[in-house]
Amino acid sequence: MLNTIMSETLPTDERYNTSFSRYLDEYRRSIENTEEFWNEKSKIIEWFRDYDRVLDDSKKPFFRWFVNGKTNVSYNCLDRHIKTDKRNKVAYIWVSESGNEKIVTYYGLYRRVNALARGLLNMGLRRGDHVTIYMPMILEAPVAMLACARIGVVFNVVFSGFGAEALAERIKDSRSKMVITADGAWRRGKIVELKSIVDRALELTENVESVIVVKNTNNEINMESERDFYYNDIIEDGYVEPEKMDSNDPLFILYTSGTTGKPKGIVHGNGGYPVWISNTMKWAFDPKDEDRYWCAADIGWITGHSYIVFAPLLLGVTSIMYEGAIDYPKPDRVWDIIERYGVNILYTSPTAIRLLMKYGDKYPNSHDLSSLKTLGTVGEPINPAAWHWFYEVIGKSRCPIIDTYWQTETGGFTIAPALGLGLPDLKPGSATFPLPGIDPVILDDNGREVKRNEKGYIVLRRPWPGLMLTVNNDDKRYIETYFSKFKDMYLMGDYAVKDDDGYIWLLGRADEVLKVSGHRIGTIEIEDALVSMKEIAEAAVFGKPDTIKGDTIIAFVTLKEGYEKSPDLIDYFKRKIREELGPIMVPEEIHIVDSLPKTRSGKIMRRVIKAVYLDQLPGDITTLENEASVDEIKRAVEELK
Ligand code: WTA
Repeated sequence: MLNTIMSETLPTDERYNTSFSRYLDEYRRSIENTEEFWNEKSKIIEWFRDYDRVLDDSKKPFFRWFVNGKTNVSYNCLDRHIKTDKRNKVAYIWVSESGNEKIVTYYGLYRRVNALARGLLNMGLRRGDHVTIYMPMILEAPVAMLACARIGVVFNVVFSGFGAEALAERIKDSRSKMVITADGAWRRGKIVELKSIVDRALELTENVESVIVVKNTNNEINMESERDFYYNDIIEDGYVEPEKMDSNDPLFILYTSGTTGKPKGIVHGNGGYPVWISNTMKWAFDPKDEDRYWCAADIGWITGHSYIVFAPLLLGVTSIMYEGAIDYPKPDRVWDIIERYGVNILYTSPTAIRLLMKYGDKYPNSHDLSSLKTLGTVGEPINPAAWHWFYEVIGKSRCPIIDTYWQTETGGFTIAPALGLGLPDLKPGSATFPLPGIDPVILDDNGREVKRNEKGYIVLRRPWPGLMLTVNNDDKRYIETYFSKFKDMYLMGDYAVKDDDGYIWLLGRADEVLKVSGHRIGTIEIEDALVSMKEIAEAAVFGKPDTIKGDTIIAFVTLKEGYEKSPDLIDYFKRKIREELGPIMVPEEIHIVDSLPKTRSGKIMRRVIKAVYLDQLPGDITTLENEASVDEIKRAVEELK
């Protein structure tokens, strides 16, 4: 059995250099002696109490790792290092859009985290309580995450580009007692008024008792007495004993979009998660003690959680943290930061690369990028043109590109070239091979493995320590979404192929989830917001391929009786979506039509709308109840031309 898995999953040793054989050995060990392997790898963090068992799969698919182990993520990110020569090492170099800079050492971060943890305890928060963090990319954001982790408070970070409704929904589902936020965020020289968005969200929710506000942009804000407090007024210097958290106690919830219903609250724990992300960061990026590492994501997404905050701090790495747009004030912003701070490892998204590529080579060429030694990408498949530009123009053909394929649910990287274990030859656009512990297989709809070079669903056959614990308040949804299509195997929701050499190529989502500038967006959330407007009867949302952003959002809607189609109405719909869901969710185009293609049972045929819109053949439309609607969509598209 094992031999089949190995030969299906991996290339043979002979074709590769000696260093790659280290990867093969580690990989083989992770599959053959899983418990022994993870017992060894779990020592990457410190445990207050050793676990009784490495893996309990008796209640699968609720896999439990490091059973009864006790640890604390904040302790492991901070206290552990300040006892060593990392004490005065820089943890973060924070840079703002306007060029301000703040440097915090591991000891400095430790002090800040303790001060906030004390403040939160003084305000009555206790282990097991829930807090929502809605913040820009400022140092207080990781401080807040670590302070919560320290006292066993489960936090849920909401991306600061989300609007009031989206925020309220997440506050409610997570039953947060507190919101930690800022007066505002800087974006392209303008202030995004975060506090007023929080105020609106709190009108829609009842569970929040207090709000902590960091002064960041110094804009005027409303402060509700007894409810709202300035961050600087509640922190208190001192030491707070880290809680002894169980491996499988929740650490945080992060909401992510799916195909149906509300966004899912993905729950990650205190044991398996830190073990997974710190090992995967070491394997994939192999950061050295003196390296400066920059992950240009936002803490509002899983990439920021795992690879801006926790993994780099667990490993004691120095990170750059940047607040602002990557091409502001000038298109050379990223290259300027790399030169100024001597960045060695740059981790970003294909969308960012395509955007920067569009500005031309003169911007990177006017900076000294010789400090770079490793490049990484995440979020969407990278197209070969962007890969080559990144490799040649930015990395000067000497830096490997670590294309990391993973998801919110997987906690950390799953498929990626393992620089730290021995690189395979890279192929532009392939994430290459699974990291140790990951056992991928590509299946057809009937659960049969597809042949080489054939497209299928990518599925993981074995559990790994970074797998989420569950979906918040919804164990059933966890099973149905991820472990039902193929029993007891984890469905990633993407299409993939494996080529003749065993390399894995990701081909994008197999469902209605969009990737807009690398951000994961559920069409259903936008449809829900549209149909909840009094003017709209029905809505269908889908993605249009875009050469820079991956997908852009397109909506078709029908109006209720008594409303007339007009450009003003479309602007109004866009404005409403911006307010409720946030700027990243606003459709680029909204088309008003008289009817939408539906099946006889009344289901809107998004597939047909999308195909007609993209000028493709709509496929079988004989089940349509109203074929005339297809012509209407064609007309709407014609009008656009
Ligand atoms: C996509 C982001 C191809 C994929 C870490 C996945 C990728 C979804 C890659 C998860 C990659 C992420 N190549 N596709 N290297 N990385 N994806 O939860 O569709 O925001 O299912 O996590 O992003 O998005 P999420």
